[in-house]
Amino acid sequence: MKIAALRETAPGERRVAVTPETTRKFVGLGASVAVEQGAGAAASVTDDALVQAGATVADRASVLAGADIVLGVQGPDPDSLAGIQPGAWIVAGLNPFGDRARVDRYAALGVEALAMELMPRITRAQSMDILSSQSNLSGYKAVLDAAAEYGRAFPMMMTAAGTVSAARLFVMGVGVAGLQAIATARRLGAQVSATDVRAATKEQILSLGAKPIFVEAVQGIEGEGSGGYATEMSDEYKAAQAELVSAHIAKQDIVITTALIPGRPAPRLITDAQVASMKPGSVIVDLAVEQGGNVEGAVAGEVVERHGVKIIGHRNMPSRLAADASALFARNLFNFLSAFWDKDAGRPVLPDGDEIGEAIRLTRGGQVVNPRLTGTA
Ligand code: NAI
Repeated sequence: MKIAALRETAPGERRVAVTPETTRKFVGLGASVAVEQGAGAAASVTDDALVQAGATVADRASVLAGADIVLGVQGPDPDSLAGIQPGAWIVAGLNPFGDRARVDRYAALGVEALAMELMPRITRAQSMDILSSQSNLSGYKAVLDAAAEYGRAFPMMMTAAGTVSAARLFVMGVGVAGLQAIATARRLGAQVSATDVRAATKEQILSLGAKPIFVEAVQGIEGEGSGGYATEMSDEYKAAQAELVSAHIAKQDIVITTALIPGRPAPRLITDAQVASMKPGSVIVDLAVEQGGNVEGAVAGEVVERHGVKIIGHRNMPSRLAADASALFARNLFNFLSAFWDKDAGRPVLPDGDEIGEAIRLTRGGQVVNPRLTGTA
């Protein structure tokens, strides 16, 4: 049973899918672990540390040769998988809706592609959920990035030279990233408010000591679809939300947006006119910028200035905390594979009909089999 981990090739990707800790655990299960040279360098994981933990480190072709499972943070380029054996598993974040063509190519290679971001939101899968582990770090880093661009302080300070007032920070979208952004901003001393379409988040906002800003008395306020995810809202709701939020945004120093709807473009939450209503020197962080953006004018991979307001659109936030993000991602992968480990077979086995396997499996036996991709969901 050979587990391979490749060096990530996507631009700006600093994370790695295996760490010394997970190497030791896989070896403990009886697997061998082979890692491509330098795979962990950008995440402070050295080849030496991996070798000490029991991995072999080699070039890509040797790592892939005979591998039963290939681990990645992002999906490897199918062109770079020459020599992979049919039936091998590719386990990574595979962006199946954003890059459907690549899924077809995995099918053509005869590999079984398992998309970790499609992990169902059920209790037994919590420790395998890459979206949660990575979003949490994104929410934290978004606040630090905002603080770094903001020309003022976050906490109220009473000094001999006079008082500095606390920054007002507004979080839009209170999922995993939003909750961590609220907690981080509170720790830095900002005055924090937050909003979401899911009414259940109101209690969570209050429990973190922030102020909920919510549209009341409009049909469809519950806003929650399956698995705790948001659904698209009615036009009436969107209009009421825009009005409420407009008045609030104009008084904010920092806005952090995190709103996503699975399988759809991110909802537009802030217009150019709303950006213009903010004070000069204000900062917006758009964590949804790669999914189409919550903020008009946000540019993926750039910090732009509009109407004196900085709009931060960094790509791949978790990669900006590569060491911690890798440690959590690698554990998610280990937790998944070890939960399905079959001692007799000496490898993980996904039983037919299991909810997790059915949700994350994209390809099998040369075909695309995921109902969400084949349109049979
Ligand atoms: P997400 O990343 O899909 O979206 C972020 C947030 O944006 C969500 O809270 C969503 O409601 C909100 N949003 C969407 N459209 C919006 C709009 N127009 N205006 C304002 N906000 C909008 O969500 P995430 O972070 O993945 O979490 C969703 C839920 O799933 C949470 O309740 C979380 O606690 C739950 N969850 C459950 C897990 C489990 O049981 N295994 C694991 C992880 C999360």
